[in-house]
Amino acid sequence: MKEIVKVDVIRTTGLAKLDAATQALSKATTFAEIKKIRDVAEAIRKLAKTAGAGLDIQNQGAMLKIRAERKAGKKLKTMERHKSVNGRPKKGVHDEPLILKELGIDDKNQSRRWQREADISDGIQEEYFEQARKKEQEITTAGFLRYGKPVEDKEFEPKIYDIWNFQGIDDKFGQEHPGNIPAGIVLNTLYYYTNENDLVVDPMAGGGVVIDCCKYLNRGCLAYDVKPTRKDIEKNDILQGYPAKAKDCNLIFLDPPYYKKKEEDYGKESISALTLEQYWMAFKKIAEHSFRCIDKSGFLALLMEPYIDYQDSTNSLWLFQYINLFSDNSWKVERIFDVPESSQRYAAHDVARAKEQKQILTLRRQLIIFRK
Ligand SMILES: C[S@@+](CC[C@H](N)C(=O)[O-])C[C@H]1O[C@@H](n2cnc3c(N)ncnc32)[C@H](O)[C@@H]1O
Repeated sequence: MKEIVKVDVIRTTGLAKLDAATQALSKATTFAEIKKIRDVAEAIRKLAKTAGAGLDIQNQGAMLKIRAERKAGKKLKTMERHKSVNGRPKKGVHDEPLILKELGIDDKNQSRRWQREADISDGIQEEYFEQARKKEQEITTAGFLRYGKPVEDKEFEPKIYDIWNFQGIDDKFGQEHPGNIPAGIVLNTLYYYTNENDLVVDPMAGGGVVIDCCKYLNRGCLAYDVKPTRKDIEKNDILQGYPAKAKDCNLIFLDPPYYKKKEEDYGKESISALTLEQYWMAFKKIAEHSFRCIDKSGFLALLMEPYIDYQDSTNSLWLFQYINLFSDNSWKVERIFDVPESSQRYAAHDVARAKEQKQILTLRRQLIIFRK
């Protein structure tokens, strides 16, 4: 009898405390406030579990704990970014263990785990909570991290030469979109030009391949598009500049429409609807806005292929023209990779017509890495 009363008390007081803490979390702004709420949620979750007070209250605690850890993880990311220059601490800034101790964090792993939680989108978080509750499963941080990972245990092998052949699209990365690119191109770029927990910005995100690759390699990611297709892509026209939160990012991954290619898929707001002159003006703006947005030791990766006018070659757009434009707007070339398209992109009738008209079809595509 006594035990039942005790469990009832844990339930009622626990639920009331979780309610108040949930309200407080939406208003909390400092790291200390967020951490305190996270600790309250974890204490209630643990108590409910040991006392056998029921899966619902235990999961309420776990959900609040995860929400608070994600908010704390976002804060830690900004602290980290201000702390390091090329992976080394900025002068005058305490070393990492000391900072973490001052913040009341156990160790580096806890800090990294919270930052990884922060990389998972709100949509995926809600999906995980819903699935776990439907199946009457325990909600845990480990379960959440597993659920948020796009690919189970796929091994990533970095390329060692500067020609990267990737055939086809990996449907585990990105939502179906007319402009999808092979994940291998993005994964290698992240591997060579960023570190764990760096911030990557994709201003023309399409189906979000870059977002999913960032999750896979534990990089933070902000994604935008003039025509967003998923919840974790925000609407933004790059010609108007980058949102303030993208400032000082470490890598911009730029995969724009290749002039008129797929114009009918991208719509009126896309740069593919522009005239040739307007298109080049748009690229000048993109180069300028990106230069202002990126951290001083950051990189911009431009994925581009030539646009060939088979009737009048003077209307063709060549890769060197993009390189010249970016160079004229303060960017320096760091490296160029050949990332050829697959011949599968051409249908049998394209090949037959090309043969008949003695045209040479292009498979050329390059990834040009610029640095500030
Ligand atoms: C080649 S697709 C990107 C595909 C993406 N990398 C993927 O793998 O799914 C180019 C994207 O640029 C977007 N876009 C075009 N003009 C834009 C603009 N002015 N601002 C932002 N996005 C734009 C299009 O809507 C399109 O989704």
